[in-house]
Amino acid sequence: MDELTVALAARDAAGLARRRRAVDSPQGAHVTVEGREVLHFGSNDYLGLASDPRLIAAAQRGAARFGVGAGASHLISGHFSAHDTLERELSDWVAPCADARALLFSTGYLANLAIVPVLCGRGDAVFGDRLNHACLNDAARLSRAQFIRYRHGDLDELSRRLTQSRAKRKLICTDAVFSMDGDIAPLPQLLELAEMHDAWLLVDDAHGFGVTGGGRGTLAHFGLAAERIVYMGTLGKAAGVSGAFVAAHRAVVETLLQTARPYVFTTASPPLLACALQASLAIIRDEPQRRERLSTLIACFRAGTATLPWRVLPSETAIQPLVVGDNAEVLALSAALWQRGLWVPAIRPPTVPQGTARLRIALSAAHAETDVTRLLAVLAALAERG
Ligand SMILES: Cc1ncc(COP(=O)(O)O)c(C=O)c1O
Repeated sequence: MDELTVALAARDAAGLARRRRAVDSPQGAHVTVEGREVLHFGSNDYLGLASDPRLIAAAQRGAARFGVGAGASHLISGHFSAHDTLERELSDWVAPCADARALLFSTGYLANLAIVPVLCGRGDAVFGDRLNHACLNDAARLSRAQFIRYRHGDLDELSRRLTQSRAKRKLICTDAVFSMDGDIAPLPQLLELAEMHDAWLLVDDAHGFGVTGGGRGTLAHFGLAAERIVYMGTLGKAAGVSGAFVAAHRAVVETLLQTARPYVFTTASPPLLACALQASLAIIRDEPQRRERLSTLIACFRAGTATLPWRVLPSETAIQPLVVGDNAEVLALSAALWQRGLWVPAIRPPTVPQGTARLRIALSAAHAETDVTRLLAVLAALAERG
């Protein structure tokens, strides 16, 4: 106990302690937290679907029809017709290759923990971008394959490492949209390298699915399809609900279904969520205006950042980080925003590299242009105050 207490105090002193805030309203541009309404820039609900009445109604109908719990894992008796339909719709929508199928997972974290150890093991090698999400790194470690990390976006280093490798099987894994930087991975070049070295390419599109490529995700953004691509999309961000899916060649999906431990040994997600997700997918398909609105807000935000003293990263996505650097400074900035009624989370190591603590501003189609201009005005005022 003493050791834990000392370690917690050291965390706190380094500006690394985290705290949760309990939200007491639906997700949206404005949320109620600790008794006050704040303007919110901390959610991955990029299309504003998390509290859409059509998703809520679909979930309610799903609960009335199927109940609230799946009762068992998919392979025992927890696989429902709603899961099945959603899987078919997702594989048609993303279409990562001919003869593709999709498989639902309870979370993106679990999906990645499933994919990598199924495709690679001892004697194999996993190559990952240094800014990949933590769960891709954890998946690589779990696989027991050699884990080689290359500098962010450095295709020359990756190419060199692939050439040097004597591994039996190789897998390149990458965030499609980097979760804390917002930039898009060079997927065409990564696929080229994968082809050249006969490697798998695992594309984690947690922050692209629903938004990029007309909503089909980042493969569609680049017009890519290949049997060596394993696509992972999450359903708790732009899709507004919860869960994740893998879309890939049917042989890959069947292998995951048969052997992936994070698929086999966990209770299926409630079928009512699959019902809500069918409604979500219909909106992603039929309402491009949400993505257009998001693009307008992104342009509006970026146009207003030129005079701010913090480093604005070159992101064209809804993730717009302002890099402050120091942990204490970013906490103070986030607290000053909070005092003025704006919720913008401070992101610190180990989520981002040392010395690059930042405000992660996440824009959503739920925001109004005036919300963005208010954020810019408060940031400008705080910058002037110093
Ligand atoms: C790039 C990336 N992959 C995977 C995940 C995990 O997805 P989930 O939240 O569904 O577990 C996240 C975020 O949470 C992410 O940002």
